[in-house]
Amino acid sequence: MLAPSILSADFARLGDAVAAVARGGADLVHVDVMDGHFVPNLTIGPDVVRALRRCTDVPLDVHLMIEHADRWLDHYVDAGAAWVSVHVEAVPHLHRAISHLRARGARPGAVLNPATPLSTLEEILPELHHVLLMSVNPGFGGQKFIASTLDKIRRLRAMVRERGLSTLIEVDGGVGPGNARALLEAGADVLVAGNAVFAGGDPEQGVRALRAACA
Ligand code: DX5
Ligand code: ZN
Repeated sequence: MLAPSILSADFARLGDAVAAVARGGADLVHVDVMDGHFVPNLTIGPDVVRALRRCTDVPLDVHLMIEHADRWLDHYVDAGAAWVSVHVEAVPHLHRAISHLRARGARPGAVLNPATPLSTLEEILPELHHVLLMSVNPGFGGQKFIASTLDKIRRLRAMVRERGLSTLIEVDGGVGPGNARALLEAGADVLVAGNAVFAGGDPEQGVRALRAACA
């Protein structure tokens, strides 16, 4: 599955960006929520998610890079988020947050920063719809893919398989046509891509090119 990240879109024309990636065949639209505290950048909040929800039928994959994410879950679910991902580094009561999201009808995921080990998922893994592995340090688009993530994907794929789970593995940061296929072969199910989709100026074609690189 492909989840274009609108972080690299023109923020004055987000509706057009979402329509373009939908035409290109996006499976999800990845929405990066940053608070200027958990990460050194500030983006959008629930009102923009609600506005995007009205623009498209493609499910919104909301990545919360915020402190006290647990206080904001209902705001994003109410705004129309289909998938909601919370960083294990930002939520002390992760089980409560994940259970709450599931009870609200959202698809809950946990996110790991590059330096956070897979062992932090040991107890929570069966409760997760997906795990989002960061392959850059979160905060900005257009960063270089951290190569060690490939092995992390393989090890997570093995964990999921050994436990007989169906948890999806999503990868975010520095993803593009050059590494998409290798990421899928390592065991990723969902690829997030911002710069690779938007930098060329034609995001519809950007999604198609990424899809072609996966084949
Ligand atoms: C980074 C965000 C990513 C970002 C990826 O903090 O979580 O979703 O948009 O952008 P690229 O694909 O440009 O690395
Ligand atoms: Zn993201």
